Amino acid sequence: MHEKSIKLLNSAIAGELIAVHQYMYFHFHCDDQGYDLLSNIYKRTAMEEMRHVEFLADRILFLNGKIVLKAGADVEPIHEVKEMLEWARASEQDAIRDYNQDANASAANSDSATKRIFEDLVADEERHFNQFDMEYEKLLKFGERYLVLQALDNSAATPGAVQ
Ligand SMILES: [Fe+2]
Ligand SMILES: [Fe+2]
Repeated sequence: MHEKSIKLLNSAIAGELIAVHQYMYFHFHCDDQGYDLLSNIYKRTAMEEMRHVEFLADRILFLNGKIVLKAGADVEPIHEVKEMLEWARASEQDAIRDYNQDANASAANSDSATKRIFEDLVADEERHFNQFDMEYEKLLKFGERYLVLQALDNSAATPGAVQ
């Protein structure tokens, strides 16, 4: 009877795992290039997406379903900051659209608790989108200076760095 909800929840997990992997990948590469602010944002967001996997998986177990822990796609080897932010913005927009649809589908299945999970996820993904969008706007506005400042902050914070 909960088959439809379990399918929606597993499909959401596949999307969340893509985000977890891709944001960790961005975190590593921003860290490597000295972009601390972005590196931290990606790490923090990856951890939040992992919490989303947990909410979804808990609900599947509650409904006596089987959890399928499989990312919906492989990591894209993106190393350029502008492309990373474009990927993140698009991914969050897709998640907002999908979860709104999933909430409506859950309401149509008379599964209010699953609907509420999707609605809570929409709010988080909107916040993620907003955060990536703000950084993207700054990058467009300040260009290279936006990145140089982050890299300078990083070298000033490194022990032993020339002040
Ligand atoms: Fe998420
Ligand atoms: Fe997100």
